[in-house]
Amino acid sequence: MLLRWYIILGVLAAFTIAADHTLFKTCEKVGVCQRLRNTTANELFKIENLKPTTAGNVTNTWQLSRGTDKFTLTIELLNNAKVRFQLKEEGSKRYELKDVLDENQPQPIKVKVEPSQDEKKTTITPDPSTKEQHSIVIYKEPLKVAFLYNEKELVVLDSTNLVMEYKNGKFDEKDVEIKDIGFNVIFSDALKLYGLHHHAYNLELPDTSDMEPFRLRNSDTANFEANSPMALYGSVPVIYGHSNSSTTGIFLHNAAEQWVDIRYTKDGSPSAHFMVDSGSFDLFVMLGPNIENVVQQFTDLTGKAQMPQLWTLGYHQCRWSYFTREEVLGVVKNMNEGGFPLDAIWLDIDYTDGKKYFTWSDKFTGTDGKGVETMLETLKGKNKKLVTIIDPHIKVDEKYPVYKEGKDGNYFVKEKDGKKDFVGECWPGNSSYVDFLNPAARTYYANHYSDREFHQGYPEVLAGIWNDMNEPSVFDPHHEWTMPFDNKHKSTNDGEAEIEHRDIHNIYGFLHTMSTHEGLMKRDNNATRPFILTRSHFAGSQRYAAMWTGDNTPDWDHLKNSYSECMLSNLVGLVFCGADIPGFFKTVPKPTDQFVYRAYQAGIWLPFFRGHASNDTESREPYSYGGKPRDLIRNAIKMRYRHIPTWYQLFYEHTQTGAPVIRPLFYEFPGEIEHNDHIMIGRGILARPVFDEDVKEVTVHLPGKDEKWYRIDGNSVQAYNGDQEVTINVEKGESPAFYRGGSIIVTRDRDVMSTEDGKRLPVTVYVNLNKDLKATGKLYNDDGVSFEYKNNKKLYVKLSFTEEHMLQVEPIGEQKHDGLEVVIEKIVVNDWNRTHVSTHHQADVGGNFLSHINIIHALRNNENKMIYKLRR
Ligand SMILES: *[C@@H]1O[C@H](CO)[C@@H](O)[C@H](O)[C@H]1NC(C)=O
Ligand SMILES: *[C@@H]1O[C@H](CO)[C@@H](O)[C@H](O)[C@H]1NC(C)=O
Ligand SMILES: *[C@@H]1O[C@H](CO)[C@@H](O)[C@H](O)[C@H]1NC(C)=O
Ligand SMILES: *[C@@H]1O[C@H](CO)[C@@H](O)[C@H](O)[C@H]1NC(C)=O
Ligand SMILES: *[C@@H]1O[C@H](CO)[C@@H](O)[C@H](O)[C@H]1NC(C)=O
Ligand SMILES: *[C@@H]1O[C@H](CO)[C@@H](O)[C@H](O)[C@H]1NC(C)=O
Ligand SMILES: *[C@@H]1O[C@H](CO)[C@@H](O)[C@H](O)[C@H]1NC(C)=O
Repeated sequence: MLLRWYIILGVLAAFTIAADHTLFKTCEKVGVCQRLRNTTANELFKIENLKPTTAGNVTNTWQLSRGTDKFTLTIELLNNAKVRFQLKEEGSKRYELKDVLDENQPQPIKVKVEPSQDEKKTTITPDPSTKEQHSIVIYKEPLKVAFLYNEKELVVLDSTNLVMEYKNGKFDEKDVEIKDIGFNVIFSDALKLYGLHHHAYNLELPDTSDMEPFRLRNSDTANFEANSPMALYGSVPVIYGHSNSSTTGIFLHNAAEQWVDIRYTKDGSPSAHFMVDSGSFDLFVMLGPNIENVVQQFTDLTGKAQMPQLWTLGYHQCRWSYFTREEVLGVVKNMNEGGFPLDAIWLDIDYTDGKKYFTWSDKFTGTDGKGVETMLETLKGKNKKLVTIIDPHIKVDEKYPVYKEGKDGNYFVKEKDGKKDFVGECWPGNSSYVDFLNPAARTYYANHYSDREFHQGYPEVLAGIWNDMNEPSVFDPHHEWTMPFDNKHKSTNDGEAEIEHRDIHNIYGFLHTMSTHEGLMKRDNNATRPFILTRSHFAGSQRYAAMWTGDNTPDWDHLKNSYSECMLSNLVGLVFCGADIPGFFKTVPKPTDQFVYRAYQAGIWLPFFRGHASNDTESREPYSYGGKPRDLIRNAIKMRYRHIPTWYQLFYEHTQTGAPVIRPLFYEFPGEIEHNDHIMIGRGILARPVFDEDVKEVTVHLPGKDEKWYRIDGNSVQAYNGDQEVTINVEKGESPAFYRGGSIIVTRDRDVMSTEDGKRLPVTVYVNLNKDLKATGKLYNDDGVSFEYKNNKKLYVKLSFTEEHMLQVEPIGEQKHDGLEVVIEKIVVNDWNRTHVSTHHQADVGGNFLSHINIIHALRNNENKMIYKLRR
């Protein structure tokens, strides 16, 4: 939910509402961008000594100079083809980021450092015992650092645009402290660059010669535009360079504002020019050599998401706002009567008592004070969860205990002087902002999630928390709708507030979710997987929260962008991504029914699936539509629920390998770029929803010369060969989706009204034969709630279909199945070599017809495998 309704109200008559550019600065209006954009460094860096020196335990440090200025460069080779590059001024006073990297960090590997005979360069190669393939060459003068894999140069940092300035200066006639960092990275082997999440843009980064640079500065960009480099709510300073032969990546471990220009040249080797406002120059280079490796390398550094609770994968219904408990129960009733599955209902700010978080309005508590409890009890009986919003701003009100405690404990962000609490305007009016950089402040806020008055004794129903407005959003146009960059934070409770907001701006939301995560873990005795949705995010946010693309507009361009936004977030670890359906804002005229059902059809294939709308819009719940649109919306939601077992298994894969849950085609098929309207769910499902008004047909790009694809959204399955474009008629509301030959997809083909209802029902196994008439897949299940899966309380099996027409089920790793049940009720073999591939085959064991296969029973009774021969 957004700020600035008062501005929006003023322009309600507009057809679509564009972001007001005057409220957000262009490059020329921001010091670092203005200083660094079109300039090349006039003094170049050089290395003083080719032999590295040792500083503490860090062995590979070089002395650098630029004129009379001195610097130190540290380069560490890390395992799994990663490198860490850090450049500092002598006696650096720059803020060094904490909290972002995963706690399990790789140690530097053993290397050999060899200056060349001619003294022009030095080479760092891994010790052969490490089995690593990446190496570095540092050129002396001017400084250039080349990053190689298997002796091939893939990434280069030269000194053309290398800038490190830390000095007093002037900008806009004001005295300012300049802390600029500028550098240029060339991706020598790449065709296309991807990254700089979060922008509403295509996946491929464009050349920015004729446009603004991409800006990373977490912002509450109300009415954000589609196809724009304007800053949005989150920042992940990562770029991947991709070609048919390799993929590499860089990650700037820095949470200050950044601007990035992209250049493509005729002979390849695209480059990125970073212009960074403050913080340290701490760069990780990931040398792939392919996209799976790079994604894994990045999640080695920033961590993986934990398993989500099962219910979080279902459909969520939200609106700003459901104002009373009767309204909440009414929505649940209407969904139920309309036959629309639903797992969670969401409450926006108006459930609180005067926007004081952790409290309830009397519209919910009722006169007897028992209203919330009875509402939660009713939701529980219907297998629905509740998610409520908790923002980071705290109403300034001495009578509000959360405020009083924060003020007395010194837990709020300070003004420039480091002493006075900063007060900014937000939903409650004057507010202070929790200083989440301070661990004690995180704990103070976290503890309130355990307040009995808040969860009312039903933490298992009030099962999720929505952290919004955490860029942080402040209703103040003078600082681009956030707090002044010279506000001060504390990094420890005893210390002074001396860390400038500008150094940590982009992780404020990340730190907010860290606190909420701590709070939910505490509330639930570490026994339940927290569910948190955050608007602002940073690299590593996946460890604490799911995210969504923010306050979007219900139009075709935003809908199309949502696919690129979430596919990109998935490539940078933030796997639990979704976009508001059909879109948040009011538009005049309202979105057509056709748009709405298309938005649902697209939304089911994004990991997080929520309907949401602003407070001035018409009713946008699924039951608000009639006739065919209503049926198409219902069918879409059911398609989602059928595939819950597959979504769940893909999330488990992510926890193990860091692999994205959804992917662009090029993740599976290198070089298949620029298909931003195609999406893959795991390796086995391809969807190509409709993103245009009134189209009769769509063109689907089915990749892979030897691939087979089975269309699944029609009444009967149809097989296609890969490596072709097929035209599919969508006039009746079809939304094309395919299973890939060679995959086995597990579904639950039962009508259920929530994931909880479906949890113990049997599954169907779709065996999709490839050209060799084989297929494999995986099935995962656990209790859906706890962390016991980490103690192997789970079912995890490989399914394979062999030439002998057998379905073989083998456990993967150690596992204890106590209390779990997984039953296969049907096996469907999609076989391209038959005229009617939709023939259903039943499992047949030793001549005995089986209607169900209880996998766990079978695994218990066979040592390691179970084999079912199928009749063909
Ligand atoms: C830099 O060059 C672009 C054109 O490439 C121009 O539009 C811009 O005004 C220049 N300066 C800055 C600070 O962006
Ligand atoms: C060096 O490494 C040792 C052992 O890992 C550790 O105890 C020590 O604190 C380190 N020293 C510095 C300066 O990092
Ligand atoms: C909000 O705070 C500002 C500055 O601290 C103060 O001038 C103003 O009176 C306050 N407004 C209200 C409604 O308390
Ligand atoms: C939960 O985990 C934290 C961090 O590991 C630990 O300090 C705390 O004691 C645990 N609490 C419970 C109730 O197990
Ligand atoms: C939406 O919420 C804002 C903030 O509470 C309020 O001022 C505005 O009147 C609301 N709009 C409608 C149409 O209810
Ligand atoms: C890369 O792969 C794509 C898709 O397979 C192909 O169309 C393209 O020609 C290839 N490009 C190069 C340079 O090999
Ligand atoms: C396809 O089916 C035909 C007839 O059923 C069979 O003769 C042929 O061997 C099959 N092809 C493959 C590759 O199995």
